[in-house]
Amino acid sequence: MRHIMVTGGAGFIGSNFVRYMLQNYPAYNIVVYDKLTYAGRLENLQDVAEAFEGRYAFVKGDICDADRVEQTIKQHRIDTLINFAAETHVDRSLVEPGSFIQTDVYGTYVLLEAARKFELERYHQISTDEVYGQVLDGRSTEADHLEPRSPYAASKASGDLMVLAYQESWNLPITITRGSNNIGPYQYPEKVVPLFTTNAIDDRPLPVYGDGKQMRDYQYVLDHCTGIDTVLHKGVLGEIYNVGTGSEITNIEMTKIILHTLGKSENLIQYVEDRPGHDRRYALDISKLCALGWNSTVPCEAAIEQTVHWYVANAWWWQPIKNGELYKAYYAQQYAQRLEKGAAVG
Ligand code: NAD
Ligand code: TYD
Repeated sequence: MRHIMVTGGAGFIGSNFVRYMLQNYPAYNIVVYDKLTYAGRLENLQDVAEAFEGRYAFVKGDICDADRVEQTIKQHRIDTLINFAAETHVDRSLVEPGSFIQTDVYGTYVLLEAARKFELERYHQISTDEVYGQVLDGRSTEADHLEPRSPYAASKASGDLMVLAYQESWNLPITITRGSNNIGPYQYPEKVVPLFTTNAIDDRPLPVYGDGKQMRDYQYVLDHCTGIDTVLHKGVLGEIYNVGTGSEITNIEMTKIILHTLGKSENLIQYVEDRPGHDRRYALDISKLCALGWNSTVPCEAAIEQTVHWYVANAWWWQPIKNGELYKAYYAQQYAQRLEKGAAVG
Protein backbone atom coordinates (compact mmCIF):
# COMPACT_ATOMS: atom_id res chain seq x y z
CA MET A 1 0.00 0.00 0.00
CA ARG A 2 1.62 3.20 -1.09
CA HIS A 3 -0.97 5.53 -2.57
CA ILE A 4 -3.64 6.22 0.00
CA MET A 5 -6.68 8.43 -0.42
CA VAL A 6 -7.97 9.71 2.91
CA THR A 7 -11.47 11.13 2.56
CA GLY A 8 -12.42 13.55 5.34
CA GLY A 9 -8.72 13.98 6.10
CA ALA A 10 -9.06 17.67 6.97
CA GLY A 11 -11.28 16.90 9.97
CA PHE A 12 -10.27 16.03 13.51
CA ILE A 13 -9.37 12.32 13.40
CA GLY A 14 -8.47 12.28 9.71
CA SER A 15 -5.84 15.03 10.08
CA ASN A 16 -4.27 13.29 13.08
CA PHE A 17 -4.22 10.04 11.12
CA VAL A 18 -2.61 11.59 8.03
CA ARG A 19 0.15 13.17 10.16
CA TYR A 20 0.72 9.87 11.98
CA MET A 21 0.93 7.81 8.76
CA LEU A 22 3.28 10.20 6.94
CA GLN A 23 5.55 10.26 9.99
CA ASN A 24 5.61 6.48 10.37
CA TYR A 25 5.58 5.21 6.76
CA PRO A 26 8.17 7.00 4.62
CA ALA A 27 7.16 4.97 1.54
CA TYR A 28 3.52 6.06 1.62
CA ASN A 29 1.91 8.88 -0.32
CA ILE A 30 -1.32 10.39 0.91
CA VAL A 31 -4.01 12.37 -0.87
CA VAL A 32 -6.55 14.06 1.36
CA TYR A 33 -9.93 14.42 -0.35
CA ASP A 34 -12.25 16.70 1.63
CA LYS A 35 -15.23 18.96 1.04
CA LEU A 36 -14.10 21.37 3.78
CA THR A 37 -17.38 21.67 5.63
CA TYR A 38 -17.41 23.74 8.84
CA ALA A 39 -15.52 20.82 10.46
CA GLY A 40 -12.88 20.42 7.74
CA ARG A 41 -10.04 22.91 8.08
CA LEU A 42 -6.82 23.29 6.14
CA GLU A 43 -5.16 24.67 9.32
CA ASN A 44 -5.40 21.12 10.71
CA LEU A 45 -2.94 20.03 8.03
CA GLN A 46 -0.80 23.15 7.69
CA ASP A 47 2.27 21.54 9.30
CA VAL A 48 1.74 18.34 7.28
CA ALA A 49 1.66 20.21 3.98
CA GLU A 50 4.99 21.85 4.88
CA ALA A 51 6.75 18.81 6.37
CA PHE A 52 5.73 16.23 3.77
CA GLU A 53 5.69 18.16 0.52
CA GLY A 54 5.94 15.63 -2.33
CA ARG A 55 4.27 12.80 -0.38
CA TYR A 56 1.12 14.74 0.50
CA ALA A 57 -1.55 16.32 -1.69
CA PHE A 58 -4.90 17.95 -1.02
CA VAL A 59 -7.99 17.76 -3.25
CA LYS A 60 -11.13 19.72 -2.40
CA GLY A 61 -14.11 17.56 -3.24
CA ASP A 62 -17.35 16.00 -2.07
CA ILE A 63 -17.51 12.21 -1.60
CA CYS A 64 -20.96 12.36 -3.21
CA ASP A 65 -19.37 13.62 -6.46
CA ALA A 66 -18.55 10.38 -8.30
CA ASP A 67 -16.70 12.04 -11.21
CA ARG A 68 -14.34 13.94 -8.93
CA VAL A 69 -13.74 10.88 -6.74
CA GLU A 70 -12.87 8.75 -9.80
CA GLN A 71 -10.68 11.44 -11.31
CA THR A 72 -8.72 11.71 -8.04
CA ILE A 73 -8.23 7.93 -7.80
CA LYS A 74 -6.97 7.81 -11.38
CA GLN A 75 -4.74 10.85 -11.21
CA HIS A 76 -3.03 9.78 -7.98
CA ARG A 77 -2.93 6.03 -8.76
CA ILE A 78 -4.75 5.25 -5.51
CA ASP A 79 -4.60 1.67 -4.22
CA THR A 80 -6.14 2.21 -0.77
CA LEU A 81 -9.10 4.32 0.30
CA ILE A 82 -9.78 5.17 3.96
CA ASN A 83 -13.09 6.91 4.54
CA PHE A 84 -13.26 9.33 7.46
CA ALA A 85 -15.61 11.75 5.66
CA ALA A 86 -18.89 12.18 7.49
CA GLU A 87 -21.26 14.54 9.19
CA THR A 88 -20.38 13.67 12.77
CA HIS A 89 -22.23 15.59 15.46
CA VAL A 90 -25.28 13.97 17.09
CA ASP A 91 -26.85 17.32 18.09
CA ARG A 92 -26.66 18.58 14.51
CA SER A 93 -28.18 15.33 13.25
CA LEU A 94 -31.23 16.11 15.39
CA VAL A 95 -31.62 19.46 13.61
CA GLU A 96 -30.77 18.52 10.00
CA PRO A 97 -30.60 14.75 9.45
CA GLY A 98 -30.65 15.09 5.63
CA SER A 99 -26.99 16.03 5.29
CA PHE A 100 -26.06 12.98 7.39
CA ILE A 101 -27.93 10.64 5.08
CA GLN A 102 -26.41 12.33 2.06
CA THR A 103 -22.77 12.12 3.16
CA ASP A 104 -22.66 9.16 5.54
CA VAL A 105 -24.87 6.84 3.46
CA TYR A 106 -24.93 8.04 -0.16
CA GLY A 107 -21.33 9.29 -0.01
CA THR A 108 -20.18 5.91 1.31
CA TYR A 109 -21.95 4.22 -1.61
CA VAL A 110 -20.17 6.51 -4.11
CA LEU A 111 -16.78 5.61 -2.61
CA LEU A 112 -17.59 1.89 -2.60
CA GLU A 113 -18.57 2.03 -6.28
CA ALA A 114 -15.28 3.73 -7.09
CA ALA A 115 -13.33 1.18 -5.03
CA ARG A 116 -15.04 -1.61 -6.97
CA LYS A 117 -14.53 0.00 -10.38
CA PHE A 118 -10.83 0.66 -9.83
CA GLU A 119 -10.25 -2.65 -8.02
CA LEU A 120 -8.60 -0.98 -5.06
CA GLU A 121 -6.53 -3.21 -2.78
CA ARG A 122 -8.37 -1.98 0.30
CA TYR A 123 -11.40 0.05 1.29
CA HIS A 124 -11.42 0.89 5.00
CA GLN A 125 -14.46 2.44 6.66
CA ILE A 126 -14.14 4.52 9.83
CA SER A 127 -17.19 3.80 11.94
CA THR A 128 -18.32 4.39 15.50
CA ASP A 129 -19.47 2.59 18.65
CA GLU A 130 -22.73 4.55 18.33
CA VAL A 131 -23.99 2.07 15.70
CA TYR A 132 -24.54 -0.49 18.50
CA GLY A 133 -26.89 1.88 20.31
CA GLN A 134 -26.80 2.35 24.05
CA VAL A 135 -25.39 -0.54 26.08
CA LEU A 136 -26.72 -0.49 29.62
CA ASP A 137 -24.82 -3.63 30.69
CA GLY A 138 -21.86 -5.50 29.30
CA ARG A 139 -19.88 -4.50 26.22
CA SER A 140 -20.53 -4.43 22.48
CA THR A 141 -18.74 -7.01 20.40
CA GLU A 142 -18.34 -6.77 16.65
CA ALA A 143 -20.95 -9.53 16.17
CA ASP A 144 -23.68 -7.58 18.00
CA HIS A 145 -26.80 -6.36 16.25
CA LEU A 146 -26.87 -2.70 15.28
CA GLU A 147 -29.44 -0.66 17.19
CA PRO A 148 -28.63 2.97 16.36
CA ARG A 149 -30.85 5.56 18.08
CA SER A 150 -29.86 8.96 16.63
CA PRO A 151 -29.96 10.06 12.98
CA TYR A 152 -26.14 10.26 13.11
CA ALA A 153 -25.79 6.71 14.45
CA ALA A 154 -28.41 5.40 12.01
CA SER A 155 -26.62 6.95 9.02
CA LYS A 156 -23.25 5.53 10.15
CA ALA A 157 -24.85 2.10 10.67
CA SER A 158 -26.32 2.28 7.16
CA GLY A 159 -22.87 3.11 5.80
CA ASP A 160 -21.42 0.06 7.57
CA LEU A 161 -24.14 -2.20 6.15
CA MET A 162 -23.42 -0.94 2.65
CA VAL A 163 -19.70 -1.63 3.11
CA LEU A 164 -20.47 -5.18 4.24
CA ALA A 165 -22.87 -5.63 1.31
CA TYR A 166 -20.07 -4.76 -1.15
CA GLN A 167 -17.86 -7.35 0.49
CA GLU A 168 -20.55 -10.04 0.28
CA SER A 169 -21.73 -9.16 -3.23
CA TRP A 170 -18.46 -8.36 -5.01
CA ASN A 171 -15.79 -9.56 -2.63
CA LEU A 172 -14.56 -6.00 -2.18
CA PRO A 173 -11.52 -6.09 0.14
CA ILE A 174 -12.92 -4.10 3.04
CA THR A 175 -12.28 -3.62 6.74
CA ILE A 176 -14.22 -1.55 9.28
CA THR A 177 -13.16 -0.01 12.58
CA ARG A 178 -15.69 1.16 15.17
CA GLY A 179 -14.10 3.71 17.47
CA SER A 180 -15.32 5.11 20.78
CA ASN A 181 -15.35 8.89 21.51
CA ASN A 182 -12.05 10.42 20.38
CA ILE A 183 -10.42 13.42 22.00
CA GLY A 184 -7.21 15.32 21.27
CA PRO A 185 -5.81 18.10 19.06
CA TYR A 186 -7.96 19.76 16.36
CA GLN A 187 -11.39 18.56 17.49
CA TYR A 188 -14.05 21.10 16.55
CA PRO A 189 -15.40 22.77 19.71
CA GLU A 190 -18.93 21.41 19.30
CA LYS A 191 -17.96 18.01 20.78
CA VAL A 192 -18.09 17.94 24.52
CA VAL A 193 -14.43 17.89 25.60
CA PRO A 194 -13.19 20.79 23.44
CA LEU A 195 -16.45 22.68 24.05
CA PHE A 196 -16.17 22.40 27.84
CA THR A 197 -12.41 23.07 27.83
CA THR A 198 -12.66 26.25 25.79
CA ASN A 199 -15.74 27.46 27.69
CA ALA A 200 -13.92 26.90 30.98
CA ILE A 201 -10.84 28.77 29.74
CA ASP A 202 -13.18 31.69 28.96
CA ASP A 203 -15.06 31.31 32.31
CA ARG A 204 -18.29 30.47 30.53
CA PRO A 205 -20.75 27.82 31.80
CA LEU A 206 -20.32 24.13 30.91
CA PRO A 207 -23.78 22.87 29.81
CA VAL A 208 -24.06 19.27 31.11
CA TYR A 209 -27.02 17.44 29.54
CA GLY A 210 -29.49 15.75 31.89
CA ASP A 211 -28.00 14.26 35.05
CA GLY A 212 -24.47 13.97 33.61
CA LYS A 213 -24.32 10.27 34.45
CA GLN A 214 -24.14 9.08 30.86
CA MET A 215 -21.00 7.04 30.22
CA ARG A 216 -18.51 7.32 27.38
CA ASP A 217 -15.15 5.74 26.55
CA TYR A 218 -12.99 8.81 25.82
CA GLN A 219 -9.90 7.64 23.93
CA TYR A 220 -6.89 9.67 22.83
CA VAL A 221 -7.01 10.16 19.07
CA LEU A 222 -3.51 8.74 18.48
CA ASP A 223 -4.54 5.43 20.02
CA HIS A 224 -7.39 5.32 17.52
CA CYS A 225 -4.88 6.05 14.73
CA THR A 226 -2.60 3.16 15.76
CA GLY A 227 -5.70 0.96 15.93
CA ILE A 228 -6.60 1.81 12.33
CA ASP A 229 -2.97 1.28 11.31
CA THR A 230 -3.03 -2.18 12.93
CA VAL A 231 -6.20 -3.15 11.07
CA LEU A 232 -4.80 -1.87 7.77
CA HIS A 233 -1.67 -3.98 8.13
CA LYS A 234 -2.77 -6.98 10.18
CA GLY A 235 -6.56 -7.04 9.98
CA VAL A 236 -8.46 -9.81 8.23
CA LEU A 237 -10.36 -8.72 5.11
CA GLY A 238 -14.12 -8.48 5.63
CA GLU A 239 -13.76 -8.05 9.39
CA ILE A 240 -14.87 -5.37 11.84
CA TYR A 241 -12.73 -4.22 14.79
CA ASN A 242 -13.73 -2.15 17.81
CA VAL A 243 -11.23 0.53 18.94
CA GLY A 244 -11.37 2.15 22.38
CA THR A 245 -9.81 2.08 25.84
CA GLY A 246 -12.28 -0.57 27.00
CA SER A 247 -13.40 1.49 30.02
CA GLU A 248 -15.83 4.35 30.51
CA ILE A 249 -16.39 7.33 32.77
CA THR A 250 -19.45 9.51 33.39
CA ASN A 251 -19.80 12.89 31.75
CA ILE A 252 -19.74 14.63 35.11
CA GLU A 253 -16.44 12.89 35.98
CA MET A 254 -15.05 14.00 32.59
CA THR A 255 -16.25 17.57 33.27
CA LYS A 256 -14.55 17.67 36.67
CA ILE A 257 -11.26 16.41 35.23
CA ILE A 258 -11.33 19.30 32.73
CA LEU A 259 -12.04 21.86 35.47
CA HIS A 260 -9.39 20.48 37.82
CA THR A 261 -6.78 20.40 35.04
CA LEU A 262 -7.49 24.07 34.35
CA GLY A 263 -7.72 25.01 38.04
CA LYS A 264 -11.28 26.33 37.49
CA SER A 265 -14.28 26.22 39.84
CA GLU A 266 -16.99 23.55 39.64
CA ASN A 267 -19.45 26.44 39.82
CA LEU A 268 -19.03 26.67 36.05
CA ILE A 269 -21.03 23.42 35.71
CA GLN A 270 -24.60 24.06 34.61
CA TYR A 271 -27.07 21.19 34.25
CA VAL A 272 -29.32 21.80 31.24
CA GLU A 273 -32.15 20.09 29.37
CA ASP A 274 -31.12 16.67 28.10
CA ARG A 275 -30.46 15.71 24.47
CA PRO A 276 -33.49 13.86 23.01
CA GLY A 277 -32.86 10.11 22.79
CA HIS A 278 -29.58 10.55 24.67
CA ASP A 279 -27.70 7.23 24.72
CA ARG A 280 -26.94 6.37 28.33
CA ARG A 281 -23.80 4.34 27.85
CA TYR A 282 -21.46 3.06 25.16
CA ALA A 283 -18.97 0.33 26.05
CA LEU A 284 -16.75 -1.64 23.71
CA ASP A 285 -15.19 -5.05 23.93
CA ILE A 286 -11.76 -4.40 22.36
CA SER A 287 -10.32 -7.92 22.64
CA LYS A 288 -10.51 -8.65 18.89
CA LEU A 289 -8.18 -5.78 18.02
CA CYS A 290 -5.92 -6.49 21.04
CA ALA A 291 -5.48 -10.02 19.66
CA LEU A 292 -3.70 -8.41 16.66
CA GLY A 293 -1.08 -6.98 19.04
CA TRP A 294 -2.60 -3.51 19.50
CA ASN A 295 -3.19 -1.84 22.84
CA SER A 296 -4.71 1.38 24.04
CA THR A 297 -1.89 3.37 25.71
CA VAL A 298 -3.57 6.48 27.17
CA PRO A 299 -6.18 6.01 29.94
CA CYS A 300 -9.28 8.22 29.84
CA GLU A 301 -8.16 10.68 32.54
CA ALA A 302 -4.72 11.23 30.99
CA ALA A 303 -6.32 11.62 27.54
CA ILE A 304 -8.57 14.38 28.88
CA GLU A 305 -5.65 16.13 30.61
CA GLN A 306 -3.47 16.01 27.49
CA THR A 307 -6.34 17.35 25.41
CA VAL A 308 -6.93 20.23 27.82
CA HIS A 309 -3.22 21.14 27.68
CA TRP A 310 -3.37 21.23 23.87
CA TYR A 311 -6.31 23.64 23.86
CA VAL A 312 -4.58 25.88 26.41
CA ALA A 313 -1.50 26.04 24.18
CA ASN A 314 -3.37 26.39 20.89
CA ALA A 315 -5.86 29.23 21.26
CA TRP A 316 -4.73 30.35 17.74
CA TRP A 317 -6.64 27.33 16.43
CA TRP A 318 -9.95 27.48 18.33
CA GLN A 319 -10.46 31.16 19.13
CA PRO A 320 -11.14 32.21 15.51
CA ILE A 321 -13.64 29.33 15.21
CA LYS A 322 -15.50 30.29 18.37
CA ASN A 323 -15.47 33.99 17.44
CA GLY A 324 -16.88 33.27 13.97
CA GLU A 325 -20.51 34.08 13.10
CA LEU A 326 -21.24 30.49 12.03
CA TYR A 327 -20.19 29.08 15.37
CA LYS A 328 -21.96 31.78 17.36
CA ALA A 329 -25.21 31.05 15.51
CA TYR A 330 -24.80 27.32 16.18
CA TYR A 331 -24.08 27.93 19.86
CA ALA A 332 -27.08 30.22 20.29
CA GLN A 333 -29.40 27.75 18.57
CA GLN A 334 -28.13 24.83 20.62
CA TYR A 335 -27.61 26.40 24.04
CA ALA A 336 -29.24 29.83 24.51
CA GLN A 337 -32.62 28.48 25.65
CA ARG A 338 -31.12 25.58 27.54
CA LEU A 339 -28.81 27.83 29.55
CA GLU A 340 -31.61 30.32 30.26
CA LYS A 341 -33.96 27.59 31.47
CA GLY A 342 -31.19 25.93 33.45
CA ALA A 343 -30.34 29.25 35.09
CA ALA A 344 -33.98 29.78 36.09
CA VAL A 345 -34.11 26.31 37.69
CA GLY A 346 -30.71 26.65 39.35
P1 NAD B 1 -15.01 15.81 11.80
O1 NAD B 1 -16.42 16.30 11.80
O2 NAD B 1 -13.99 16.53 12.59
O3 NAD B 1 -14.46 15.76 10.28
C1 NAD B 1 -15.23 15.27 9.22
C2 NAD B 1 -14.48 15.62 7.94
O4 NAD B 1 -15.23 15.11 6.82
C3 NAD B 1 -14.32 17.13 7.71
O5 NAD B 1 -13.02 17.40 7.28
C4 NAD B 1 -15.35 17.44 6.63
O6 NAD B 1 -14.99 18.55 5.83
C5 NAD B 1 -15.33 16.14 5.84
N1 NAD B 1 -16.57 15.93 5.08
C6 NAD B 1 -17.84 16.01 5.54
N2 NAD B 1 -18.71 15.77 4.54
C7 NAD B 1 -17.97 15.50 3.43
C8 NAD B 1 -18.27 15.18 2.09
N3 NAD B 1 -19.55 15.07 1.69
N4 NAD B 1 -17.27 14.97 1.23
C9 NAD B 1 -15.97 15.09 1.64
N5 NAD B 1 -15.62 15.41 2.87
C10 NAD B 1 -16.60 15.62 3.77
O7 NAD B 1 -15.11 14.29 12.19
P2 NAD B 1 -14.16 13.35 13.04
O8 NAD B 1 -14.52 13.48 14.46
O9 NAD B 1 -12.76 13.54 12.60
O10 NAD B 1 -14.67 11.92 12.55
C11 NAD B 1 -14.09 11.26 11.44
C12 NAD B 1 -14.74 9.91 11.25
O11 NAD B 1 -14.62 9.14 12.44
C13 NAD B 1 -16.24 9.99 10.97
O12 NAD B 1 -16.57 9.03 10.02
C14 NAD B 1 -16.89 9.68 12.31
O13 NAD B 1 -18.16 9.10 12.14
C15 NAD B 1 -15.89 8.69 12.87
N6 NAD B 1 -15.81 8.63 14.34
C16 NAD B 1 -15.66 9.77 15.09
C17 NAD B 1 -15.54 9.67 16.47
C18 NAD B 1 -15.33 10.89 17.33
O14 NAD B 1 -15.32 10.78 18.56
N7 NAD B 1 -15.10 12.07 16.79
C19 NAD B 1 -15.58 8.42 17.09
C20 NAD B 1 -15.72 7.27 16.28
C21 NAD B 1 -15.83 7.40 14.91
P1 TYD C 1 -20.47 14.40 22.14
O1 TYD C 1 -19.10 14.96 22.26
O2 TYD C 1 -21.49 15.15 21.36
O3 TYD C 1 -20.29 12.91 21.60
P2 TYD C 1 -21.39 11.72 21.43
O4 TYD C 1 -22.75 12.24 21.69
O5 TYD C 1 -21.21 11.37 20.00
O6 TYD C 1 -20.97 10.67 22.39
O7 TYD C 1 -21.06 14.18 23.60
C1 TYD C 1 -20.40 13.35 24.52
C2 TYD C 1 -21.27 13.25 25.76
O8 TYD C 1 -21.37 14.54 26.35
C3 TYD C 1 -22.68 12.82 25.46
O9 TYD C 1 -23.14 11.97 26.51
C4 TYD C 1 -23.46 14.11 25.45
C5 TYD C 1 -22.74 14.97 26.46
N1 TYD C 1 -22.77 16.43 26.20
C6 TYD C 1 -23.17 17.32 27.20
O10 TYD C 1 -23.49 16.91 28.33
N2 TYD C 1 -23.19 18.65 26.90
C7 TYD C 1 -22.85 19.13 25.69
O11 TYD C 1 -22.90 20.37 25.48
C8 TYD C 1 -22.43 18.21 24.67
C9 TYD C 1 -22.04 18.70 23.31
C10 TYD C 1 -22.41 16.87 24.97
